[in-house]
Amino acid sequence: MILHNFFVLEGIDGSGTSTQLKILQEKLEKQGKKAFFSTEPTSGSTGLFLRRMLSGEIKLHPATAAFLFAADRNEHIYGKNGIKEHLENGDICVSDRYLFSSLAYQSQECGKELPAKINEDFPLPEILFYFSIDPAVSLKRIIGRGVTEIYEKEEFLRKTEAEYRRVINDFKGKSSMRIVEIDATKSIDEISAIIWNEISADK
Ligand code: TMP
Repeated sequence: MILHNFFVLEGIDGSGTSTQLKILQEKLEKQGKKAFFSTEPTSGSTGLFLRRMLSGEIKLHPATAAFLFAADRNEHIYGKNGIKEHLENGDICVSDRYLFSSLAYQSQECGKELPAKINEDFPLPEILFYFSIDPAVSLKRIIGRGVTEIYEKEEFLRKTEAEYRRVINDFKGKSSMRIVEIDATKSIDEISAIIWNEISADK
């Protein structure tokens, strides 16, 4: 199932999705559009627990992490104040990361089957924006920020980028979700214009 007016930004760490989420939020709010912006992991209790794993504070079995990311996602979509509720109220919903992150990241540590199985029933966004970037470049951005998380290592990000490509190709063949690939080394303004045009083209 595809959710109309639901848009997702994805890419490896340091690809710039968070910056673009903020810019899009400012633009939509300026236009007086009703919109809901969120991230995964979410700011709910499962999401906060996952952040403790990402910082290295808590160690989890890879399959446990995969289940928790999916549980957090379930709340994000179906829970109170979630995506479904907002879409039903006529809001545009934009999420920084969604199930594609689980397929790309968790597949490496617990195989492709489990993440695919526990995420297969979630609805798809209308447009998936994929931020493509060389991990060496994204890692430089991350290191410039100061704090790094457990997945922020070049070899891991290189494999994640390859996994994202596999996942995106799979979806191209089997769904009508629109996929927009963005060269994440373009300027912040250029990227925000691309996203804006794609979302407006739809309105
Ligand atoms: P971010 O807040 O910088 O986007 O970082 C979130 C991290 O969580 C990033 O390394 C990707 C990871 N992640 C997963 O491994 N699986 C998931 O399903 C999600 C949503 C995020």
